[in-house]
Amino acid sequence: MSEAATDSPVLKAILERRSIRHFTEASVARGLVLEALKAASWAPSGLNNQPWRFGLIRDDDLKARLGGLTRYTNVIKSASVLVTFFLDKDSSYDHVKDCQAVGASIQNFLLAVHARGLGAVWIGEILKNKDEIQRLLELPDRLELMAVVAVGHPAHRSQTSHRRPVEELVLFEK
Ligand SMILES: Cc1cc2nc3c(=O)[nH]c(=O)nc-3n(C[C@H](O)[C@H](O)[C@H](O)COP(=O)(O)O)c2cc1C
Repeated sequence: MSEAATDSPVLKAILERRSIRHFTEASVARGLVLEALKAASWAPSGLNNQPWRFGLIRDDDLKARLGGLTRYTNVIKSASVLVTFFLDKDSSYDHVKDCQAVGASIQNFLLAVHARGLGAVWIGEILKNKDEIQRLLELPDRLELMAVVAVGHPAHRSQTSHRRPVEELVLFEK
């Protein structure tokens, strides 16, 4: 990434955001969650159908139950708030495109959380138990769980990640 590119706050946030899996006990203000959800809701969607829906979970008992449905138990339990992302099938027009749109909204959410100095991780592994979560949260069938995102104040920022060089990923340039 060139110097000019990292001068951009948007590109800087994209490059600097990391998945955060260790949180302090500090609570995340509701206003910051709603601000990040607003960013999520400004993701692009096919026909602008905005198929995403959100849920917020702070209840310790509920967090413990959800924690029992994933191997990321401690991440789920130690997060200040869990944000569930759903695809609303009643708003859907094309399943693949709608899943892509919800994914875009999750990325917007992660970047907004990062921009406020908070941390988050996208938990997809828990989807293996999505039917049980559907019952636990008493959700109507029209809501399809796409992800649970754990949000909190980062306990540290020492996590690293890597990406393959872009040159390896560009398959052709005709
Ligand atoms: C669809 C999807 C599912 C993921 N599921 C999990 C998960 O279940 N548990 C977890 O700790 N991280 C999960 N992650 C986060 C990835 O592990 C992480 O984004 C990747 O290792 C790159 O690290 P970074 O986000 O710090 O750049 C998921 C990410 C995506 C996009």
